[in-house]
Amino acid sequence: MAENISDVKEVKIKALDAFLKEFGEEATHCVCAPGRVNVIGEHTDYNEGFVLPMALPMVTVIAGKPNGTNICTIISASSAVTSVSKAEFDISEPAAIKPGEPKWANYVKGCIVNFTNSLPGFNAVVISTVPVGAGLSSSAALEVATYTFLEAITGQVANPVEKAISCQKAEHDFAGVPCGIMDQFISVMGQDGHALLLDCRDKSVIQIHMENLKDHLFLITNSNSPHKLSSSAYRDRRDACFEAAKMLGKNSLRDVSLEDIKTLEKQGASKVTINRVRHVLNENLRTQAAMKALQAGDYKRLGELMNESHDSLRDNYEVSSPELDTLVNTARSVDGVLGSRLTGAGFGGCTITLLKEECISKVISKIKDTYTGKATFYMAKPSAGARRLDCHR
Ligand code: GLA
Repeated sequence: MAENISDVKEVKIKALDAFLKEFGEEATHCVCAPGRVNVIGEHTDYNEGFVLPMALPMVTVIAGKPNGTNICTIISASSAVTSVSKAEFDISEPAAIKPGEPKWANYVKGCIVNFTNSLPGFNAVVISTVPVGAGLSSSAALEVATYTFLEAITGQVANPVEKAISCQKAEHDFAGVPCGIMDQFISVMGQDGHALLLDCRDKSVIQIHMENLKDHLFLITNSNSPHKLSSSAYRDRRDACFEAAKMLGKNSLRDVSLEDIKTLEKQGASKVTINRVRHVLNENLRTQAAMKALQAGDYKRLGELMNESHDSLRDNYEVSSPELDTLVNTARSVDGVLGSRLTGAGFGGCTITLLKEECISKVISKIKDTYTGKATFYMAKPSAGARRLDCHR
């Protein structure tokens, strides 16, 4: 069956207990930020297009307390990791903070360096239930949780758009991953019971109520074949899109239409580049259509759009994998499944499937029978974005 996701309170208590054990006193501040799943709108964010993610119940929690020094001591005690990992660094000169080991601490350091106000040293414990390397944005959850924690200890609350951009910059500069803006945005702005349509050009958002999902569900299936976002494949695709926009004299593919493909062909753009462009342009159209379908409760249409999205990611953008294709095809073969696609960057990670509630056990058992790897399943319940938590047990 689907995995049980510990509720936020349970994770918070673990973090508070771990803080007390490690530092011998109670934490004074506690925050959390969620991972995300993208319903549709893949590889569109860095092209100033549209995305339609929702925040998940899986979260990264940080519990901590200023320590009256210039030193930050942070313990990562993720439930997925049995051994505890510790990072310690001086923050008196933020410009002197550099990425290093342990790797997870780079996301924290990046946020500290980008935080606009001066900071006190602090002790903290980080615990996360967002699976790492599954394409559910464990890095964005850590960045946004860190930023929210810094807001909590300084009392300075940033504008949400600037906060998301600052966290994205942390990932660019400290993890070397040239990601788009989707993951940080939804982790900051998610709302309970809602998916979010984000226009990545002007950063405007529409919160879409998911109440009228009625007897339909989104099921996440983790292929447990880790995605390698930092691999050059992501960067190559991003560069091909930027190059195509440049060839057409446009700032981004958002200003390009399907008609312009003919010009690209005349200009001698490669078939691969044209396929990348075709994916992005159609994916933007699909994402806007998906928002309308979701608002109208037209799940049949939404499912079709999800299927088209996956097929284009597989054939035009070439970011699927045999594992993801097997999961998608198996899900689609079950009656009551309306659509299934890879979610996130691709190359591994997870799929998202829209299905009628009544067929969920059938889908899960068919995947278990067909898939040779070990799949895990989560219900994609649209959840709240980053927030402060109280420090009560
Ligand atoms: C990763 C990136 C996002 C986005 C997706 C693909 O998750 O972090 O910014 O580009 O891939 O849609």
